[in-house]
Amino acid sequence: MFHVASNPHAGKRELYAELAELAQGLLTGERNLIANAANFSALLFHSLPDLNWAGFYFYDGTELVVGPFQGKPACIRIALGRGVCGTAAQARQTQVVRDVNAFDGHIACDAASQSEIVVPLVKADGSLLGVWDVDSPHVARFDEDDRAGMEALCAVFMEHAAG
Ligand code: SME
Repeated sequence: MFHVASNPHAGKRELYAELAELAQGLLTGERNLIANAANFSALLFHSLPDLNWAGFYFYDGTELVVGPFQGKPACIRIALGRGVCGTAAQARQTQVVRDVNAFDGHIACDAASQSEIVVPLVKADGSLLGVWDVDSPHVARFDEDDRAGMEALCAVFMEHAAG
């Protein structure tokens, strides 16, 4: 099976459109949350350029706990409202951080990370599943096209998230 975007040098919007189709194919027919989260993070990490971490934090009812990811070992637990992840989870709004060193309260799991995007994952009933977090070793790696593309990909993931 071929699950990596075929042309990582295509325009950003085209690449995200292709990834949304690949994600649909990868997740359709499977409802296991860990399986889908693992494959989703592998697909995106290996298809999008200039990333050093891509993965999930799931809300356990108290705080965010690291889930399937690609990249170096990461911080395990993050309180709501803390760091970029906790801010996205509490505000329920995507956070696009141009320079993590300028973000008050950023949690540095990997010193290589320079910019970050975090998308909150909210279930149909309005409850919080967790967040999708992507880091880059380059400042200003993520823009509004990445926000739209990542939010569309997370919508595909949520269609296939159990529960
Ligand atoms: N930088 C994140 C912590 C998670 S790591 O990037 C994997 C934050 O500030 O929430």
